[in-house]
Amino acid sequence: MKSKVTVVGAGNVGATAAQQLFSQGNADLILVDVVEGLPQGKALDILESGPALDIDSSIVGTNTYEETQNSDIVVITSGIARKPGMSRDDLLTTNRNIVASVVKSIVEFSPNSILIIVTNPLDAMAQQAFITSEFPKNRVIGMAGILDTSRFRSFIASELKVSVDSVRGYVLGGHGDTMVPLIGTTTIGGIPITDLLSKERIEQIITRTQNGGLEIVELLKTGSAYYAPAASIVRMVNAIILDKNEILPCTAYLEGEYDIDGLFVGVPVKLGKNGITEIIEMKLTQQEHSELKKSSEAVRTLIEQINS
Ligand code: NAI
Ligand code: 2OP
Repeated sequence: MKSKVTVVGAGNVGATAAQQLFSQGNADLILVDVVEGLPQGKALDILESGPALDIDSSIVGTNTYEETQNSDIVVITSGIARKPGMSRDDLLTTNRNIVASVVKSIVEFSPNSILIIVTNPLDAMAQQAFITSEFPKNRVIGMAGILDTSRFRSFIASELKVSVDSVRGYVLGGHGDTMVPLIGTTTIGGIPITDLLSKERIEQIITRTQNGGLEIVELLKTGSAYYAPAASIVRMVNAIILDKNEILPCTAYLEGEYDIDGLFVGVPVKLGKNGITEIIEMKLTQQEHSELKKSSEAVRTLIEQINS
C-alpha cells in the first residue's frame, strides 16, 4: 500500500511539493487549503498529469480535514510568505495562529502522523507545532537545512564548475541570517574547500547562502522561493516513506545536543520511517560551535516573542 501524505497549503510551495511527490508515484496525496476551489483545482490538474507521467497515484483537494484521516506524513506549508522588505520573522504572529489551528485539526484526524513543518519563521513554527500537537519529538521535523545546504552546494559547484554530487557540506542552525554553513567539513571530491577557494571567495559564498531566500524574494517581488523548497520537502518525505535512514540536515528538537536545550534548530539527523531516529553530533570547530549557539539564541528570542 502507498503511503498517505497530506500537504496543507496549496500555494507555491505546497502545490509544487504535491506535484513533485505525485510524479514520483510513492504516495497518495491530499492537498488542503482554506481558499475554496484552489486545492481542488490544483489537485485535479495534477491528477490529470497521471496518464502522461504513467503514474497511478491519487490526489484529492479539499478545504476540510476529513479526507486527511490517517495520513502517514503531513507537510505544513500554510501561511503567508515573504514579500520584499519583510524578513522571515515578520511572519511570526499570523503564521503562528495558522500553524496552531492546522496542527489541531491534524492531531484530530491523524494522531500518528509525522509532521514536516515548512511555514516561516521555520524554527519557531516547528516549536509551535511540537507544543500544539504534543507529539513525541521524533515526529515533528522542520524543513530548512536541506534547502540551505542545497543552495550552499549549488553555489560551490557553480564556482568550481563541478557536479553538485562532488560537493559535500552542511548548513546548520536556525533558518535565518544566523544560519551556519560549516566550512571545516565542506569538501569537493574529498578535498577541503579551503584548499580550493580563497578565504574571501568562501566568505562571499557563505553570505550568499545566508541571503539565499532574500535573493529570490527580491527577484520574484511577489513571493518567495518554491522549487528548491519543494524539492527539499520531497527529499524528507522520501527518506521517511522509503525508510532510508538517511542523514539529512533538518530542524529538530534538541535536548542538550550541541549544548542547546529545549529548542528546534537545524542539525544533521537520521531520517526513516519513524521520523528522526537519531540526532548526529558532528565535531565542530570552536567558531562553528559558537556560531551555532548564537543562531540558537536567535531562535530562542523568536520563541520568547511568541510567548510574550
Ligand atoms: P503561498 O502564499 O503561495 O501559499 C500559502 C498557502 O497557505 C495559501 O494558498 C493560503 O491560502 C494557505 N493558507 C493560509 N492559511 C491557511 C490555513 N489556515 N489552512 C490551510 N491553508 C492556509 O506561500 P508559499 O510560497 O507556498 O510559502 C508558504 C510558507 O512556507 C511561507 O510561510 C513561507 O515563508 C514558507 N517557506 C519556508 C521555507 C523553508 O525553508 N522552511 C521555504 C519556502 C517557503
Ligand atoms: C527561503 O529560504 C523564504 O524561507 C524561504 O527561500
